[in-house]
Amino acid sequence: MTKRFTFMVTALVSTIVASSIISGNLSAHSGVLNKDVAARMKVMSEIAKNMSVLGKMLKKKDPFDKDKAVSAVEAIESLAVETPKVFKKQEMHPKSEAKLTIWEDFEAFTKIANKLSVDAKQITENLQSFDDIRPALINLSQSCKSCHSRFRK
Ligand code: HEC
Repeated sequence: MTKRFTFMVTALVSTIVASSIISGNLSAHSGVLNKDVAARMKVMSEIAKNMSVLGKMLKKKDPFDKDKAVSAVEAIESLAVETPKVFKKQEMHPKSEAKLTIWEDFEAFTKIANKLSVDAKQITENLQSFDDIRPALINLSQSCKSCHSRFRK
């Protein structure tokens, strides 16, 4: 593996871990009163929490634990299935980072969520060792990125 690639992955994982810390603070979301907006933010915070389970293993902050890793990816799979359901209703909110484009092209939005759940399912079936964590994180985070870049402010 090239140094450049290793750097890229490390940066990526740091972002995932860091963003989950941020979302941990946000998940209190005391200011978010709209229950639909709160529900979709909660799904996203949970997704991030499960990604950071893998991120911490990769960074060796936590020991590799196959069962724990697989459950985290299973959780991501079902949260990805939930994603189009919790975003279905068009709700805007000052604290929300959702773009209007979600409802302008809900099909494209759903497609990315479906890809995440399909990829996650495949990973749960194949994850065996520590070496599988890195490619799993790279694979999954591509869906986060492609959805956020298009549908999140
Ligand atoms: C299909 C689209 C989609 C996918 C896939 C997706 N997200 Fe999101 N995510 C969003 C949108 C839209 C928001 C903004 C929601 C809002 O503020 O109303 C968001 C918000 C978030 C937030 C902020 C939550 C909060 O409390 O405000 C985090 C953290 C997050 N996503 C992490 C992730 C991670 C990690 C992944 C991949 C494993 C992921 N998301 C996959 C669409 C997606």
